[in-house]
Amino acid sequence: MSADRVPVHLSVLPVETLELLDPRPGEVWADCTTGGGGHTRLIAERVGPNGRVLALDQDPNMLELARERLSGLPVELVRANFDQLPEVLAARGLARIDGVLADLGFSSDQLADAARGLSFKHDGPLDMRLDPSTGATAADLVNTLSEAALADVIFEFGEERHSRRVARRIVERRAEKPFATTADLADVVRRAVPRSGGIDPATRTFQALRIAVNDELGALDRLLAALPAVLKPGGRAGIISFHSLEDRRVKHAFRAAGWSAVNKKPVEAGDAEAARNVRARSAKLRVAVRTEPDGPAI
Ligand SMILES: C[S@@+](CC[C@H](N)C(=O)[O-])C[C@H]1O[C@@H](n2cnc3c(N)ncnc32)[C@H](O)[C@@H]1O
Repeated sequence: MSADRVPVHLSVLPVETLELLDPRPGEVWADCTTGGGGHTRLIAERVGPNGRVLALDQDPNMLELARERLSGLPVELVRANFDQLPEVLAARGLARIDGVLADLGFSSDQLADAARGLSFKHDGPLDMRLDPSTGATAADLVNTLSEAALADVIFEFGEERHSRRVARRIVERRAEKPFATTADLADVVRRAVPRSGGIDPATRTFQALRIAVNDELGALDRLLAALPAVLKPGGRAGIISFHSLEDRRVKHAFRAAGWSAVNKKPVEAGDAEAARNVRARSAKLRVAVRTEPDGPAI
């Protein structure tokens, strides 16, 4: 992905996110998932020259892509996993901040880049790491996990009813030749899972492996646990999630003592946004306000 490209990703729920999070002039915010910088830009314009936005992403390619869009704004790009947010703030001498946004998962730019191996539609190396510098790839998982462990991952993170059959076919196939590409895996999964409805039979298995490779639910749990200590009283947190495994966690966290949920039901995209942005169709935004200090300031 080259730095002179313009992001293709369309930020989801931009109007609703700004309205509910209500960033104000002079405030300090962290956008935990800057991606192409769409939401970051909106927040930075609101906090203005006396404010500050830390724009985190674990993918250095995305930070490069966001750089131009964010130039001239009070934004600092930070390469970090958002589960490191307390350390990122501490390293800058910041105790509590005014707001945090996390727009979870991957961006359309990452999905469209075949070299990232996230998509069953574009053939590429079976990688799936959002931080390309560390950790096991999807190929490592499908070539080494036991059949039972693979079935568990595919069932738990993909909610795939045919997880056992998929795992068995994967193990049979890798005995002949290890998996190397996304097309390889998609082909085996499509043969194992009967087609039903409009979605590609490989969708759920790819989602499951991506979540496992990036420990997405672990990172979300750690971020949610850290929020009370990093937000000021009156500080706002917004999380945009894309499947029920994520939304359930956010809903539960925002029900705990010390939080006041701004919206009891998650905000979803209206028809116009859903028509122009496929990703927005599954987006759910929850916003909550910290009503009291909790835990030691960092
Ligand atoms: C949905 S995109 C964000 C799009 C962005 N809000 C926009 O408007 O352009 C999610 C981004 O978060 C990053 N990401 C996902 N999980 C992360 C994590 N645990 N820590 C840091 N960045 C993460 C991905 O690399 C991706 O760039």
